[in-house]
Amino acid sequence: MTDRYAVIGNPVAHSKSPQIHAAFARQTAQKIEYTRLLAPLDGFRAAVETFIAEGGRGANVTVPFKLDAFDLAHEVSPRAKDARAANFLRFEAGRIYADNTDGAGLVRDITVNLGFPIEDRRVLLMGAGGAAQGVAVPLLGQRPAILAIANRTPDKALRLAEGLRHHVAATHTVVSGSGYGELAGRHFDLVINATSSSLTGELPPLPPGIFAVGSMAYDLVYGKGVTPFLAFARGGAVRLADGLGMLVEQAAESFLLWRGVRPDTRPVIEALRAE
Ligand code: ATR
Repeated sequence: MTDRYAVIGNPVAHSKSPQIHAAFARQTAQKIEYTRLLAPLDGFRAAVETFIAEGGRGANVTVPFKLDAFDLAHEVSPRAKDARAANFLRFEAGRIYADNTDGAGLVRDITVNLGFPIEDRRVLLMGAGGAAQGVAVPLLGQRPAILAIANRTPDKALRLAEGLRHHVAATHTVVSGSGYGELAGRHFDLVINATSSSLTGELPPLPPGIFAVGSMAYDLVYGKGVTPFLAFARGGAVRLADGLGMLVEQAAESFLLWRGVRPDTRPVIEALRAE
């Protein structure tokens, strides 16, 4: 019998995950089926239980269920604990195991695909919601010189920064949390937009001049073209990146955990980019 996987979300029709995993399966000669599963907003648990009963082996979880996935699991990885959310589930012998591959996907896209080492760089993480929480510890694990977290509601950035201080890597990195105004006069090598502002066509109130020469602006969203954040960063000596590479890398990390083989992401990213 073919092993079954799914991406569970609401909405989920737009998800590129089935296409990505089909490409991985072809490339690695793995026989799997990967579909979209729309769960009612109050029906995540039931959707998972039905899928398991039908022979589901694992699932990716997207908006708005990453917290539910974390709560549902019998066992959670340290990465999921750090993120307080899960985008990955594995079903085995009646038990549910949760992980989070988003942060690893982001780090791999930046350091491997884009060839931009994070170690000893000055990193600004914008946002303090679920997306920022999911990538903060993996970024810290790269041992940047600075990890500044800025948020429209400064208290949330302060709390996120405070929560990072117990991590070993924080002994190397200067971690801080603030609003945007406090960034005036500072310069960063890597600026990551983990706010949801690009989805509504808005721009967080970044002061001008925060991009150092040779820096990179990375927007976690994809498929939105040049977002207001990337437009703000454009010009100067700034490299621009959207979240398409991260999407494919978190999928590859999931595929590796389920199937034991790491697929080659480059042709898949290129194919999606060409669409
Ligand atoms: P997600 O799961 O995408 O992170 P979330 O948890 O609702 O969604 O968090 C949204 C993040 O985007 C928050 O950090 C939010 O800032 P606040 O905490 O101040 O609400 C941020 N955000 C959304 N729209 C924004 C905007 N126009 N400017 C700046 N920050 C914005």
